[in-house]
Amino acid sequence: MDTPRSTIYLIGFMGSGKSTVGRSLADALGYRFIDTDTFIETRFRQRILDMFATAGEAVFRRRERIVLEELLGIERTVIATGGGLPCAGDAMDLLLESGLTVYFRCSPEILATRLELCKRTRPTIRDKSGEELLAFVRSTLGEREPIYSRAELIRPIDQITTRQEEEAFAQELAQELRALGY
Ligand code: S3P
Repeated sequence: MDTPRSTIYLIGFMGSGKSTVGRSLADALGYRFIDTDTFIETRFRQRILDMFATAGEAVFRRRERIVLEELLGIERTVIATGGGLPCAGDAMDLLLESGLTVYFRCSPEILATRLELCKRTRPTIRDKSGEELLAFVRSTLGEREPIYSRAELIRPIDQITTRQEEEAFAQELAQELRALGY
């Protein structure tokens, strides 16, 4: 039987592993997996990169909100949320009310190193590198941290670097969540 709150929201900065860990977590729990970025791209038939370039960030954020409202409380689903999604308006309140929130916490230094390798598809950072990227991560994470840290569960992920470590982390989290009734 379904538990009443079987939506698991993974939140955190870009590059914190929400999508890769989320997929494994969903598999381990027998849940569906949804990545809000991919969902938005499919729903609005446009890549996020192009959305930012042609329509602007405000339009992307409105679309993110539409999708959030569509997905709220969806049963037996792990949702990897875009890094900025919980930080707009009352979004974090909605996540807290409708499911279990898990924050993958990571230091700005490690995030910046990771993002250097995968920034091309991310419009807010694709043109930044080195010190500039680190400064952006530091200040944006500084603004977002008070919101992210309202999550029910907080997991430090600085030490998780390889795919195997991500997999082991997902399995541990799945075990923990099963013990909580998910
Ligand atoms: C963003 C994070 C991205 C994506 C968009 C903006 C942000 O999602 O939604 O590029 O503002 O932090 P990921 O966290 O999945 O990379």
